[in-house]
Amino acid sequence: MSCTIIVGGFFGDEGKGKVVAHIAYKDKPVIISRGGVGPNAGHTVQVGTREYGVRMVPSGFVYKDAKLCIGSGVLVDPRVLKHEVEMLGVQGRVFVDRRCGIITEDHITRDKGSDHLSKKIGSTGSGCGPANADRVMRVSPQAKDLPELAEYLMDVPKAIDDELKKGKNILLEGTQGFGISLYYGTYPFVTSKDTSASQIAADNGVGPTKIDDVIVVFKAYPTRVGEGPFSTEMSVAESDAMGIQEFGTVTHRKRRIGDWDGGMARYSAMINGCTQVAITGIDRVDKECFGATKYSQLTKKAKDFLKIAEDDIDSPITLISTGPEVTQIIDLRDELV
Ligand code: IMP
Ligand code: MG
Repeated sequence: MSCTIIVGGFFGDEGKGKVVAHIAYKDKPVIISRGGVGPNAGHTVQVGTREYGVRMVPSGFVYKDAKLCIGSGVLVDPRVLKHEVEMLGVQGRVFVDRRCGIITEDHITRDKGSDHLSKKIGSTGSGCGPANADRVMRVSPQAKDLPELAEYLMDVPKAIDDELKKGKNILLEGTQGFGISLYYGTYPFVTSKDTSASQIAADNGVGPTKIDDVIVVFKAYPTRVGEGPFSTEMSVAESDAMGIQEFGTVTHRKRRIGDWDGGMARYSAMINGCTQVAITGIDRVDKECFGATKYSQLTKKAKDFLKIAEDDIDSPITLISTGPEVTQIIDLRDELV
């Protein structure tokens, strides 16, 4: 029984939401708790033909037996949270740490109104940067100060610790990606906080010695939204010709597409303390792999790519996503032991 962190290894949007949902169904965690910046993150989860986009509620919500928590490091926009809770029908399962920072209308106005943030950096305009700045200045409200959040309040670290002591599984969900970490990313073209696994542990009040596994998610063809360097970026003509087009979950901006970046993957795995790797989008390496659920169904081309990726990252690939739907995945974790 264990505590697992899932984080993005490139620039975000690696498909963490789908990987979290799969692991939730399979490992049956009693708590799925979110770390990361705030509602600037967008996770897409597809179950059957239904597609959900979430920004505040953990993407493991599709697994109905888990409590869904938001760790104290995360910024909460109460409007976004309430809307999602209603839309997803997850009332009674969502909990917010008392100490979460709050995003106000003023933060959103300052984010969108700042040329530096909205134009130069290409922020999502969700208010996260200004809200984290206020938090550092110690003038930001906390979740416990808002009457409309009273029904959700919880001591998230304590709840997680209680369950770990009972031997239960816990999933800590990261957001964004390594390349936009405030500390390790392409500063200043980054988000307003670190995004590495250590940060996700800290966001949830789980000390490093209690973490058993760190799964870093990489997409075969990385993407980036917003401004900033992207060394393996391809031209739009190239990615269009490959049939790769993606749009952001939060801002609907067209995502920039790139080739596999082995050097970045290795460095990202190092700082994240990666123990296992999930590769998403293998169906883009070879269309024939779409929907595969067994390693033996993969083509030579896909297996060759996975071999290169595994050598680059220097950690075992244990999960291979073969399409957007939650069951389109190859899970090799059982073969590890
Ligand atoms: P902010 O986090 O809204 O301040 O945006 C700063 C930069 O991080 C911009 O380039 C955003 O596009 C990017 N960013 C923030 N959150 C995400 C995410 O969840 N996925 C991908 N990019 C993100
Ligand atoms: Mg996203």
